Amino acid sequence: MSDNSLPFDEKYCPSTATISSGQKRKEDWEKSIKNPQEYWSEKAKAIDWFKPFSKVLDDSNPPFYQWFPDGELNISYNALDRHMKGVRKNKLAYIWEGEMGEVKTYTYYQLYREVNKLAKVFKDYGIKKGDRIAVFLPVIPELPITLLATARVGGVHTVVFSGFSAEALADRVNDCGARILVTADGSFRRGKPVGIKDNADRALPNMPNVEKVIVVKRTGQPIQMKEGRDVWYADALASAGANAYVEPESMKSCDPLFILYTSGTTGKPKGVQHGTGGYLVWAYWTLKWAFNPTDEDIYWCVADIGWITGHTYNVYAPLSLGITAFLFEGTPDYPAQDRWWEMIERHGVSILYGTPTAVRMFMKFGEQWATKHDLSSLRLLGSVGEPINPEAWKWYYRVIGKEKLPIIDTWWQTETGGFMISPAAGIELTPLKPGSATLPLPSVNADIFDEKGQSVQPGTKGVVVIKSPWPGMLQTIWKDPERFKQTYFGKFPGLYYSGDFAIRDPDGYFWFLGRADEVLKVAGHRIGTTELESALVAHPAVSEAAVMGKEDAVKGEVPVAFVVLRSGFQPSEELRAELVKHVRVAIGPIATPEAVVFVNKLPKTRSGKIMRRLLKAVLSGAPLGDTSTIEDEGSIEDIKATYNDLRKQLSK
Ligand code: WT7
Repeated sequence: MSDNSLPFDEKYCPSTATISSGQKRKEDWEKSIKNPQEYWSEKAKAIDWFKPFSKVLDDSNPPFYQWFPDGELNISYNALDRHMKGVRKNKLAYIWEGEMGEVKTYTYYQLYREVNKLAKVFKDYGIKKGDRIAVFLPVIPELPITLLATARVGGVHTVVFSGFSAEALADRVNDCGARILVTADGSFRRGKPVGIKDNADRALPNMPNVEKVIVVKRTGQPIQMKEGRDVWYADALASAGANAYVEPESMKSCDPLFILYTSGTTGKPKGVQHGTGGYLVWAYWTLKWAFNPTDEDIYWCVADIGWITGHTYNVYAPLSLGITAFLFEGTPDYPAQDRWWEMIERHGVSILYGTPTAVRMFMKFGEQWATKHDLSSLRLLGSVGEPINPEAWKWYYRVIGKEKLPIIDTWWQTETGGFMISPAAGIELTPLKPGSATLPLPSVNADIFDEKGQSVQPGTKGVVVIKSPWPGMLQTIWKDPERFKQTYFGKFPGLYYSGDFAIRDPDGYFWFLGRADEVLKVAGHRIGTTELESALVAHPAVSEAAVMGKEDAVKGEVPVAFVVLRSGFQPSEELRAELVKHVRVAIGPIATPEAVVFVNKLPKTRSGKIMRRLLKAVLSGAPLGDTSTIEDEGSIEDIKATYNDLRKQLSK
């Protein structure tokens, strides 16, 4: 999408929404910015505090902001115990459906009992406030149970997406020094069991801190269990006793709740650290503002709990609001391409929070898969993870929403903890524009800057910055406060740098245009090009590598690797396949390069920097622009020729 082709003027007002002036939303936003103390002291009352806070924000040591610094609370208490007193006790917290179609439900009471049992196990293993617990699980009920049990005993969880490799797991677990690993024998993918414990087993010899491994039996496939270290989840819970109760730890608002690793511009993933009070208040309010879920809703956020979307919007926000959430283990097109629509009909899902990649995939499958189902239970649709192109937006609006349902396109990041820029059905629904995430939520002081740090005019592309702290913001990067300061507050001193390009239109609506840094969004997954490059150069045949994003009609973008071989190695189909496999083993299948292009050399500037812009142009077929700084004009021709060759080979 070229920048000046954005359909700024196209406005949609779903037939179920009343046309609004945007005045209420504007007033709410202004109030939050003018007087954050007053605004948040009121909002934070929605949460149960063991010890009330006397101060909303301590900003004496920026950028290490402290929200509700002297307040104390426990998140599992807010998600569970406080619902034990009222009508929500016996209401469904989760409806879970596995890949093979099996369904399990948990009332708030049942979930509370399970969490207490696992919390007791953690206590028995000697877990204390601040200890880290690593989680390597597919989307099964034991995943949220583990997070809540960790929070209950004051531990800090770090979830590693179950599709990551053994190497990626070990890197993350070692960085945070987890004492316990909770994992599963495997999970189901397209009807077949795939191993998870075997991956963990490959990592465990390199994870010396891990004392205990708790293993959920999901598939029943044969696995190794190491005597004394590995224990079955069911056995551990049985030993805790059926009526186990563990007093929730009173946590300081700024005690860490979790670490979640995410890709940045260097090879080493960042351990994004979120706290307790500010994060929970933000999770609660952002879900209420954007989707306004009620007791009548069945809310489905499709994200895996291995990512931030699942943390905030499959666990902490819905449970603290006391609503019913649907969880799904598996694949959108198994056993057939209508799996989502069939499940929505059968369970009566009313809020669907999906992704642009999924929408584009369904467009490809054809609308008949959706239209043969009764989707009338739906009342709101959401989108997250990458910019949604207007075409996909309109398909979603027309085919799934029947031109009646608002599309809530939420822009945010692992670092922001929750939604930042989004339509707000729970405050006031302003007219929507296909492809725009619309306006900043309360307390989000967003602006768009040029390279020099000046706010740009409407219609001009720049990078998104956030000019004031908000409760859900990350606290730091685990064990690396310097990197935290540099990465987020170094580019424009004191202001949060998002790394995203956007344009604001004359109505103040934000249009996101992808990353401004060397981070890719592949099917909504965040992947650092440097991580891929490091994985490639670790292979004995590779001397240099450069990885670029190439536009893709379904996944948004896909990684393409340009590789220079060491002398003695020849390009071949076998080597290409081996390098692709090597990346999958080093990082995981989500990082699979779409193509590996062998080249004699990479285009570099006179100072030796790889000219990424030129490589990108080769991929997109765009004009190359200024090549005056290139060392050897020949090399770009070489790359072009090789790439064209490869395209030909692929299309055969
Ligand atoms: C990056 C953050 C946010 C939770 C899931 C991903 C991109 C995310 C949108 C959106 C345009 C979006 C941005 C952002 N992104 N949502 N609605 N419109 N871009 O979290 O892995 O930390 O990735 O995802 O580029 O920086 P994440």
